[in-house]
Amino acid sequence: MRASPYRDGATYDRISAPLERIGREVLARLELAGDETVLDAGCGSGRVTEALIERLPRGHVIGLDGSPEMIAAARKRLGGRAELLLGDLTTLDLGGRRLDAVLSTATFHWIGDHALLFARLRGVLREGGRLVAQCGGVGNTAELVGAAGAVAEHEPFAAHLRAWAGPWNFAAPGQTAERLTDAGFGEISTWLVQRPAPYEVLADWLRTNVFSAHFERLPADLHEPYLQAVIEELGPDPSITYVRLNIDATAI
Ligand SMILES: C[S@@+](CC[C@H](N)C(=O)[O-])C[C@H]1O[C@@H](n2cnc3c(N)ncnc32)[C@H](O)[C@@H]1O
Repeated sequence: MRASPYRDGATYDRISAPLERIGREVLARLELAGDETVLDAGCGSGRVTEALIERLPRGHVIGLDGSPEMIAAARKRLGGRAELLLGDLTTLDLGGRRLDAVLSTATFHWIGDHALLFARLRGVLREGGRLVAQCGGVGNTAELVGAAGAVAEHEPFAAHLRAWAGPWNFAAPGQTAERLTDAGFGEISTWLVQRPAPYEVLADWLRTNVFSAHFERLPADLHEPYLQAVIEELGPDPSITYVRLNIDATAI
């Protein structure tokens, strides 16, 4: 099974400037001397990875993602400036290499088992290595989750979506801190922030990013009708609250 539902790396790269801006805020929290080896966990099409490369003139960047289309887009953007790997973060294994840091933006909420995820990340960090990350947190895009769920109750979508809990794991700060402790991290800070929802055109963001897992379950001829029905359910000028869970931790 694919590790990721993302199918269109080229469009993601074109429309993800707002996500890159938020990702750069996360990167700014990572203290670097410039010679470290750092993993971008869930690198997508490589926009934030590129900003990370700029911070590491004497270092080494590994970008890993579960979508072949995202890795292809990252390769186009970055060429040989990063080591790019197709892989699943829940089975992450870098052959015994120990990294100085892991950066991750907008990825962990796509992964159901955070205890397993954090254990895997701890396994590739050296003692003292840093984890700096941000993903969707509890309450993220609640209006959108509600509208997506309401539309999923009706045919012809219900046959494919009704019994499904949905793809997102929007975790809480306290619960995340406990899981990080259990995985072998210390100096842990976890907190929520709100940001403007990261889209210029709502339908583009939903189609390329938010509903990628919904589209795996729906037949292709229902993708656009589902998208349009959710947009209608949201109403004109929707206000979508983007709640992000920040994570800073050190491998101990
Ligand atoms: C919203 S994109 C974020 C990309 C980039 N970090 C950014 O900030 O723009 C989420 C990424 O997580 C990847 N992803 C989701 N689940 C994954 C998994 N289990 N293993 C590896 N990558 C995964 C997806 O393929 C996708 O590229």
